[in-house]
Amino acid sequence: MDHFLYRDGALYAEDVAISEIAAAVGTPFYVYSTATLLRHFRLFDEALAGMEHLVCFAMKANSNQAVLRTLAQAGAGMDVVSGGEYRRARAAGVPGDRIVFSGVGKTRDEIELALKGGIRQFNVESEPEMVVLDAVARSLGVTAPITIRVNPDVDAKTHAKIATGKSENKFGIPIARAREVYRMAAGLKGLEVIGIDVHIGSQLTDLAPFEAAYLKVAELTETLRADGHQITRLDLGGGLGIPYERSNADPPLPSDYGMLVQRTLGHLGCEIEIEPGRLIAGNAGLMVSEVIYVKSGEGRDFLILDGAMNDLIRPAMYDAYHDIIPVVEPVAGVEPQPIDIVGPVCESGDTFAKQRLMPPLVAGDLVAFRSAGAYGAVMSSEYNSRPLIPEVLVKDDQFAVIRPRPTFDEMINRDTIPPWL
Ligand code: LLP
Repeated sequence: MDHFLYRDGALYAEDVAISEIAAAVGTPFYVYSTATLLRHFRLFDEALAGMEHLVCFAMKANSNQAVLRTLAQAGAGMDVVSGGEYRRARAAGVPGDRIVFSGVGKTRDEIELALKGGIRQFNVESEPEMVVLDAVARSLGVTAPITIRVNPDVDAKTHAKIATGKSENKFGIPIARAREVYRMAAGLKGLEVIGIDVHIGSQLTDLAPFEAAYLKVAELTETLRADGHQITRLDLGGGLGIPYERSNADPPLPSDYGMLVQRTLGHLGCEIEIEPGRLIAGNAGLMVSEVIYVKSGEGRDFLILDGAMNDLIRPAMYDAYHDIIPVVEPVAGVEPQPIDIVGPVCESGDTFAKQRLMPPLVAGDLVAFRSAGAYGAVMSSEYNSRPLIPEVLVKDDQFAVIRPRPTFDEMINRDTIPPWL
């Protein structure tokens, strides 16, 4: 459920008309709904209510500080994967003891930054990383709390580019070697082993792979405890999928997921952490774009928008589906027609949808891409020298620009010309 609904034939974000935002900031732009963000966060929080837990928003999905602060004020922690994300979370007001640090390639500088600034735990992904973490912690005279990310060799049954839990993926240590790696960690004086971490992939629309992974984690918890390790915290990653295609999707709900966590891991008495990104932010955001031209081609027509693959790369990168709806509600009885929806960037990959059924639209009309709040703005670029598009946050009847559109000068003046030119 989200808060982007038609009212009297016009699309609204909460109590603000999308057309009003478009008039104020120009197109294209991203718009997020506070109520939807909070609703999704609370669904997870409530789903784990029976257990000690922390919901850490995977801020790679949407790292705007206004979004982070909205969630943090509701009690969320953050899952960060870089020094940049760590700094952003801190700048948004998230305390270090609510930040977990994931990622396969943490550098010394990033580790030092987090150890000095405060961190809840590092999710360690390899032995060499463990050695560096230990050395940096000892050089600072502190101990680093860690979980070790295990790779359970489970098929997440999602897009190959976002599956992470198979043995051929670069993530975590093979679960079969976990005892050996935990033994090594226990011998490193700069580290304090507190738990286990697992994340098997993103946009999972079936609970079975989670179940398979969590059962393995449960078994490993008992084995490691028998080996003498204190396992008090389980970080279960993110990955729960969302209904991108409203017409034919019914993914499991956070409450179903919470029951699965209870059932597979509840008896262990561990504190539970989860790292959802997409489910919190995805359906809390739209990308709004204007039709520039309607072009008739050979046997097909094209809707050419002012938004492009650099603004929302998911269709080009993962063949991802996004619902695209007109900002003025189509009149009942008008037959939708198939049309290709494309951006102005000079490559064929800049195609959002092929032969999508759309009501008749003309130049100047606005359309909204649904489910664009996660992995939208964060993955955008300035390809074709198109400035990053603005982000807007709505709360009830208020809206604010939370990242302005840079001017052309700001974009162009970032380059510097060497003295020999
Ligand atoms: N935790 C870890 C360690 C992760 O690697 C990820 C996502 C998450 C949590 C959050 O997963 P979520 O709940 O959002 O599924 N750019 C891609 C998605 C990449 C996901 C990478 N890792 C897309 O647009 O679909």
